[in-house]
Amino acid sequence: MQRKNSKIKFIITVSAMLMGIFGGCSDQGSAPEPNTAPVITSPPAIAALVDRQFSYEVEATDAEGDIISIQFANLPSWLTAGSHTVTGMAMAGTADTSFTAVATDGSLADTIAISLRVVPTGEIVSYADSIQPIFTNNCIRCHGGIEGTGGLRLESHMQLMEGGASGPAVIEFLPDESHLIYRIEGTVQPRMPFDGPPYLTDEQIQMIREWILQGALDD
Ligand code: HEC
Repeated sequence: MQRKNSKIKFIITVSAMLMGIFGGCSDQGSAPEPNTAPVITSPPAIAALVDRQFSYEVEATDAEGDIISIQFANLPSWLTAGSHTVTGMAMAGTADTSFTAVATDGSLADTIAISLRVVPTGEIVSYADSIQPIFTNNCIRCHGGIEGTGGLRLESHMQLMEGGASGPAVIEFLPDESHLIYRIEGTVQPRMPFDGPPYLTDEQIQMIREWILQGALDD
């Protein structure tokens, strides 16, 4: 990307602008901004459930919009790398592990260590058995129907994952960044249920937190 002779670049840029040939992309030539490294935005702590298909996509942004390629290192043998994704299935007894993801734009890179927890069968939180009933009993009298209050409907996993007026209600693996958690714990007001107390019990909130930590999957 670096040009030794910036004078030539300047002359080319100016004449290109004068000729009006590159009118549509003139800022490409006239903005001598330094390249910046991509930034990986996907969570650094994830979980795979035993006997379930597991898939994790590394997401990264780049200020210049450069094409980003992803490499993986130290993958456990049960995970297979695709271009941006790892997939596989943990078995009973598979150990927790960690691996490395590197995002590069061709010259600069961002590297993160990703810790991967393996959740044994007995600890898997079932959405259908344990999470949806909480919403059905406490929330859908307002968050149901065609629109749902605040744009949020809670009659199914799909509706929950669609989110509401404030955007996504749940971020997979990240309860502390999930709007749903802010509202049921009251760190963002009004606390839910809107007509509470009573609010959800600590046990129910813990269950929802654990379900999000495990990847917020449907079953
Ligand atoms: C009595 C009606 C009522 C009940 C019951 C209720 N809510 Fe709400 N909910 C509201 C209203 C009203 C808003 C919009 C309030 C605001 O943002 O100012 C809202 C907003 C929300 C939002 C924010 C949506 C967004 O995208 O902005 C979330 C998340 C939420 N509720 C979750 C829940 C959950 C989970 C339950 C059950 C535990 C629940 N609510 C029960 C009335 C209710």
